[in-house]
Amino acid sequence: MPLIIKDEYPETLFREDGKRLDGRDNNELRPIKMEVGIIKNADGSAYLEWGNNKIFAAVYGPREVHPHHLAKPDKGILRVFYRMATFSVFDRKRPAPGRREKEISMIVADCLEPVLFLELYPGTSFEVFIEVMDADGGTRCASITVAALALADAGIPMKSLVSAIAVGKIDGKKVIDLSGIEDKAGEADLPIAITWYNEEISLLQFDGDMDLNEMNEFLDLAKEFLKSIHNIQLDTLKSKYIKLQEKTSKNKKDEDKKGDK
Ligand code: CDP
Repeated sequence: MPLIIKDEYPETLFREDGKRLDGRDNNELRPIKMEVGIIKNADGSAYLEWGNNKIFAAVYGPREVHPHHLAKPDKGILRVFYRMATFSVFDRKRPAPGRREKEISMIVADCLEPVLFLELYPGTSFEVFIEVMDADGGTRCASITVAALALADAGIPMKSLVSAIAVGKIDGKKVIDLSGIEDKAGEADLPIAITWYNEEISLLQFDGDMDLNEMNEFLDLAKEFLKSIHNIQLDTLKSKYIKLQEKTSKNKKDEDKKGDK
């Protein structure tokens, strides 16, 4: 993909061969890689590479609430801190959290709260720290996806995972999973998240221009790809437990061998 200099958008977001600038078809996800349990000091953690996005999520809790006055006597609270590293975008990002980071922290918390049993943890907090190391469009969707995985990795009871994706319109065409330049230079961007236990939409933001019919088409399109993302999340969690199981049975065999000697 050509290097895009700040505020210099290409005239078209499609190549001559009809592919998008990064070589994808309209209905093609960027490559996605997920891992869990990579931050040893956290109760749960996950790492996600989604195209050029590289994002860590670390989860702590249930634990004491600081500052104390935020604690609720009848339920636990979920706090999310979404941050972008200074080097994560083309322009140097100011290190202090800005309005955008506060907004994304809030919407990630709103998406995740419905799947937690916060009423079972009065007076405590769950904290999710999201660090975007490299950003290239769709970081809020990627953050929701990786944060849900980190909560599950922490062993926190959940009704289901949450997955998210952005769909949108560029040069008049429907596409999924917008990259940074498509997000900025395209006509519409629609981040969507789903809670799987009830298949309800827990995030629907909209930036751009489209009619109601188009919106419905976009929702159907998103649902199809949300399933693929959910499957990657599930496979990532399963592979952690398969590895643990293999390790335990190997240790047991080694112990048995020692016992035989
Ligand atoms: O990341 P997401 O699409 O959820 O949020 P956005 O506010 O629509 O930002 C779109 C993209 O713009 C980000 O993913 C970054 O690649 C880029 N961006 C940037 O270059 N500088 C910033 N200060 C913030 C975002």
